[in-house]
Amino acid sequence: MSKNITPYKDSSLGKKEQVTQMFDTISGNYDGLNRVISMGIDVKWRDKVVALVAEKNPATILDIATGTGDLVILMAKTKATRIIGLDISSGMLEVGKKKIEKENLTNRIEMVLGDSENMPYTDNYFDAITVSFGIRNFETLEKGLAEIYRVLKPGGIFVILETSIPTKFPFKQGYTFYSKFILPIIGKLFSKDNDAYGYLSESAANFPFGETLNNILRKISFIECKAMPQTFGVATIYTATKK
Ligand SMILES: C[S@@+](CC[C@H](N)C(=O)[O-])C[C@H]1O[C@@H](n2cnc3c(N)ncnc32)[C@H](O)[C@@H]1O
Repeated sequence: MSKNITPYKDSSLGKKEQVTQMFDTISGNYDGLNRVISMGIDVKWRDKVVALVAEKNPATILDIATGTGDLVILMAKTKATRIIGLDISSGMLEVGKKKIEKENLTNRIEMVLGDSENMPYTDNYFDAITVSFGIRNFETLEKGLAEIYRVLKPGGIFVILETSIPTKFPFKQGYTFYSKFILPIIGKLFSKDNDAYGYLSESAANFPFGETLNNILRKISFIECKAMPQTFGVATIYTATKK
């Protein structure tokens, strides 16, 4: 189990409410900050996720914790007939909806306000489910993953893109320096919410990755769990299948 890291140390709210509040607050700056923090490399990682999904020719795709929609917008490149982005933060969804309108994709992508731990879909509905940089924000990881398993079709593909930690010298040391000293400065310079980027790097440093996360997926009943580290291991793409 990962340590329960929450955005606001003095808040009496649960993690879910705090995460929603934090993303509502930073939604306007999120896209710009995201590009700066990942130095633009996240675009390449997202393209890989889309390629893995497209290979399976899914008709129905759900992007959970879709945020401002960067991944779900790319899913329009697939031949899917129903594409949904779901998020718990209305602020993030509003930014995403504007981007979808600008791209003329309102007829292809639905943006839905909802909780990954309790989704408004029937069992075995989606051919493909994706989550990018979302699972480490779930209040209860196992509950969110079990709910994903429930709504995924047998044989359906689940793809996760999540931060991880380089394990090899000198990338490990470089990563520690970047997340401890550079990231908080970037966060303070760009964000209205001082706690937010502290939370994002603290939660990244404490989140299970690689085989540890694969084992959690297996415990939920996923099979064919595979972890593919990206860019020296600063992020990992995971694929898993429902039995
Ligand atoms: C770091 S952002 C990632 C957004 C987007 N997927 C991306 O790749 O840029 C994390 C998102 O997870 C959402 N989130 C956190 N907990 C959630 C939950 N229980 N259900 C749905 N969305 C959730 C947040 O509102 C936020 O938009």
